[in-house]
Amino acid sequence: MKGKLEQIKKEFQKEIEAVKSLADLEILDNKYLGRKSGALTSAMKELKSLAKEEIPKMGQLANEVKIFLTGEFEKTKKKLKSQDQISGSFDPTLPGTEQPIGHLHLVSQAIREISSIFEHIGFQRARYPEVEWDYYAFEALNMPISHPARDEWETFFIDQKPINKKLGQRILTPHTSSGQVREMEKGILPIRMMNISKTYRRQIDASHSPMFHQFEGLVIDKDINITHLKGTIEYFVKRFFGENREIRLRPHHFQFTEPSFEVDISCGVCEGRGCKLCKEGWLELAGAGLVHPNVLKAGKIDPNKYSGFAFGWGVERSYLMKSGLNIDDIRLLYKNDLRVINQF
Ligand code: DAH
Repeated sequence: MKGKLEQIKKEFQKEIEAVKSLADLEILDNKYLGRKSGALTSAMKELKSLAKEEIPKMGQLANEVKIFLTGEFEKTKKKLKSQDQISGSFDPTLPGTEQPIGHLHLVSQAIREISSIFEHIGFQRARYPEVEWDYYAFEALNMPISHPARDEWETFFIDQKPINKKLGQRILTPHTSSGQVREMEKGILPIRMMNISKTYRRQIDASHSPMFHQFEGLVIDKDINITHLKGTIEYFVKRFFGENREIRLRPHHFQFTEPSFEVDISCGVCEGRGCKLCKEGWLELAGAGLVHPNVLKAGKIDPNKYSGFAFGWGVERSYLMKSGLNIDDIRLLYKNDLRVINQF
């Protein structure tokens, strides 16, 4: 009897391991525990015919085998059920649910495009503090403390006593030109800097936002002259705005460049003939010039050995001009209104 029970257990173990479905499991259940002809049930029925002293021992053994079988059935049933549930609700061949994917803000897109254009001609991207010292924003750019040229920049001053006489007060940087002398102070020549950053001015109306972005190019090397400045701007304008656009330099005044220019580009609408959008065929774009010797000196560069050019203008304005978008209020770009943002 003992041998028989052990045999049943052994065979059962082999068979249950091979079971792959709930239906197969039921068949197996019947085969071993079925009331009428289950292998174990029949063996238990035979217990009666054993010698009296054998019965309790064999009875206990048979019971242990039964408990083992029942336990294994339950375990396997649970496992198969959960597998069934997973495979029932998950069909890997169905297309997935598409997640909404955002995109970069139009200003970030413009910044990437501008950086990449200048990267091709060797400019390196730099970033300088948005909370800047008066010194770098004005003083080092040839605008001493009481110089009237400062009035052009509607500056946000930080309400804090200056910690250092030379650096002066803290301000929100009003232009990216504040990166010029910082770049020179690194002491690495030649320089081909592209500083793109947030800038701040106390101006708010349809065409001004108190926070906006500028990009500033600075090149310092030996024998740099106006043709380099003109060539660089022309290269950018043709890549960014289109091959058919022309530029012109108009004499102007900035304290930190000498000579200084304003850069115009030919109007994209009338192609230079003159229309109601432009001034006789030209649109004003940027400030530029050859770096003033005093600025080079502030950056510890000898103006007798080195010269350079610089230019700077607004990211938002350039992008709007390029796309021909007629946004009548620049502040819309920063209102986080998805109806506007999603159009770009
Ligand atoms: N920083 C000037 C502004 O914000 C623009 C500018 C003019 C930048 C002339 C330059 C420059 O680098 O050479 O209005």
